[in-house]
Amino acid sequence: MNLIPEEQAMLDGEQGFAAQKSMEILIALGTIYGADRMLPVTSVQVAGVSYDNLGEAGLQFLTEMADGGGKAQVLTTLNPAGMDVENWRVLGIDPGFAENQMRVIDAFARMNVITTCTCTPYLSGNLPHYGEHIAWAESSAVCYANSVLGARTNREGGPSALASALTGRTPAYGYHLDANRQPGVTIEVRATLRDTYQFGALGKVIGEKLESSGVKAVPYIKGVNRSSLEELKSFCASLATYGGVALFHMEGVTPEAELTTRNMDRPTDAVIPITQIDLDSAIDSLNDAALSDVDFISLGCPHLSINEISHLAGLLKGKKVAKEFWITTSRPVKGIADRMGYTRIIEESGAKFAVDTCCVVAPLKGRFTAMVTDSAKACYYASSKHKFKTAFKSFQEVVAESLNQ
Ligand code: F3S
Repeated sequence: MNLIPEEQAMLDGEQGFAAQKSMEILIALGTIYGADRMLPVTSVQVAGVSYDNLGEAGLQFLTEMADGGGKAQVLTTLNPAGMDVENWRVLGIDPGFAENQMRVIDAFARMNVITTCTCTPYLSGNLPHYGEHIAWAESSAVCYANSVLGARTNREGGPSALASALTGRTPAYGYHLDANRQPGVTIEVRATLRDTYQFGALGKVIGEKLESSGVKAVPYIKGVNRSSLEELKSFCASLATYGGVALFHMEGVTPEAELTTRNMDRPTDAVIPITQIDLDSAIDSLNDAALSDVDFISLGCPHLSINEISHLAGLLKGKKVAKEFWITTSRPVKGIADRMGYTRIIEESGAKFAVDTCCVVAPLKGRFTAMVTDSAKACYYASSKHKFKTAFKSFQEVVAESLNQ
């Protein structure tokens, strides 16, 4: 790999242990994927923040990097942590877990990482623009950054994202290169999409069809005529979860869609149709819980936008929820909700904010039996990780269920 003098100096240890170790990680990664050089990055998002996932070994790695003088060279934020650092007692988190989670956050803070812990960094000030090279780790955010924002990132692991933060570099391979951003399969959507959760279902259908057909190409999606930020974040989360997709183009919606087809030197060689029946059966497949068994309500996977929180406040105003109800979002978005009075309305209903955390990375296994949510991604992990049954409904239906005695 060709390194410029500054990169070579980091590799030689001239900027301390953490920068040296980071450069070694990035060179090893780049060598595996055939990168011939490093690229400067402008933004990083690090995953592997919950102590539930990291464990003591992960925490030890972070501590070594912080002790080794590691300092973020570019804007760096975190994926959700295992708890809300302010509200963890109300949410029933074990004090021992809380102590370990704080050690993780402190290690990142010592490295000048901004300890906003969110899977929607683009709603909280970490918003790269078109064509920027970045190193993000959370799969839904990676898909959103590549596809909706037109920034360029591979799906980083926790250590490689941190290494990019501490060096400001990433190896030049994968989705950083024009050639790998070209579509190779067309998806024709012939179904009506009316709600955010249906975009989540669409992501599941497309992801599973790509997986089962063994197609690894970038999908070019036709037939979705309109979509909001919230619908696209739901879609990205689901497409990444069920199909491992980190980049798609959507005709008339995403910034590179027109560019990639215009520049295509070969026609896309496969067409996959998606029908209303596909969509409806994806929704059915995520509903294995009877509503009478639901003991946990969750909204905010990916983290809620201020628009969704405003909508939620309108639905809960003057009412009381009957079940444990968590609303997950980022600290900066919650700050806006505080100022607007939405937080007070929502908390008066009995629903709880779980800020900078999420229902998947929090230690919830065994605490609940069945969850209702509008997130196809949350259904996947609640079932596989926490062993909950799931009910998959629209935002409005989820709120209605929370009010059901
Ligand atoms: Fe975000 Fe957690 Fe869902 S990281 S996308 S809220 S699983």
